Amino acid sequence: MKLETPLSKRLGLKYPFVAAPMFIISNKEMIVACAEAGILGCMPSLNARTPEQLRADLEWIRQRTDRPFGINVTIGLTAPERVAADMALILEFEVPVILTSYGNPTALVKEAHAANRLVFHDVIGLAHGRKAVAAGVDGIIAVSAGAGGHAGRISPFVLIPWLREELKVPILAAGCISTGRQVVASLALGAELCYLGTRFIASTECGATDAYKDRVVSCGPEDIVYTDAVSGIHASFIAETVPAGMTPERTPEGAKRWKDIWSAGQGVGQIHAIKPIGAIVEDLAREAHDTLAGLG
Ligand SMILES: Cc1cc2nc3c(=O)[nH]c(=O)nc-3n(C[C@H](O)[C@H](O)[C@H](O)COP(=O)(O)O)c2cc1C
Repeated sequence: MKLETPLSKRLGLKYPFVAAPMFIISNKEMIVACAEAGILGCMPSLNARTPEQLRADLEWIRQRTDRPFGINVTIGLTAPERVAADMALILEFEVPVILTSYGNPTALVKEAHAANRLVFHDVIGLAHGRKAVAAGVDGIIAVSAGAGGHAGRISPFVLIPWLREELKVPILAAGCISTGRQVVASLALGAELCYLGTRFIASTECGATDAYKDRVVSCGPEDIVYTDAVSGIHASFIAETVPAGMTPERTPEGAKRWKDIWSAGQGVGQIHAIKPIGAIVEDLAREAHDTLAGLG
């Protein structure tokens, strides 16, 4: 059986996988490695400190690949002028997929659709999903309980089929996918793309420090805390990196949110090695095929 969905086919991907955008640590090297591996690589536009840096990154990527990739615009967490500047670059460099999070995507969808681009919007529940569909998005990123970053509270067993049923748009499954077995489960639940963040922290190309990557490999799901102490919005972090008594208003001296306080999801439990992205993707595909064969 081919690992293919209508959306992976439409995007021209070899496999229905996305390397999800991760603040600070996703980079242009990951995007190119993903393109070469046949999946959709992504990064938040804010990982480039300035629009000038984003332009340089997009030029660098475009010199190396003409395959699709995605840029994440964190609407509500980003100054409107920066959103406008980043969108102009996304359109100029013909980035085919825009991932929106933390805000109302209506204006971006209009701009993106006028240029024939796709927009996928990140939600943790139905109410925001309905608003995003009304705004015209092309797909919903269903962020479940246990995901890395700003995770939801609903089990993927419910969230994926529920949002698909209610919203009737393609669903991207985000949260706790680290193996091919979980890929098959996500597709069986009705997802059209698997959106993996934590698995790709432990990749050679990722911009995380070696200590962060090593900890992702060595820790288990019980080491992950779900707390709003770091940013005011509930997110998943590796427990020992969250300083005691931390609140959104009070960051203990020296601790930098997201940089020193490491985010990862419960999917850490099944990550056993740091590998190049190409090898991770082939592992996922092989495991998925083995799982399907085992199911008969
Ligand atoms: C370190 C880290 C940073 C993240 N930063 C962002 C971000 O800037 N924008 C965003 O939309 N999602 C962000 N996410 C969420 C991911 O895009 C994705 O939804 C999530 O990692 C999927 O769950 P998984 O980590 O269990 O695979 C982040 C996740 C992690 C682990």
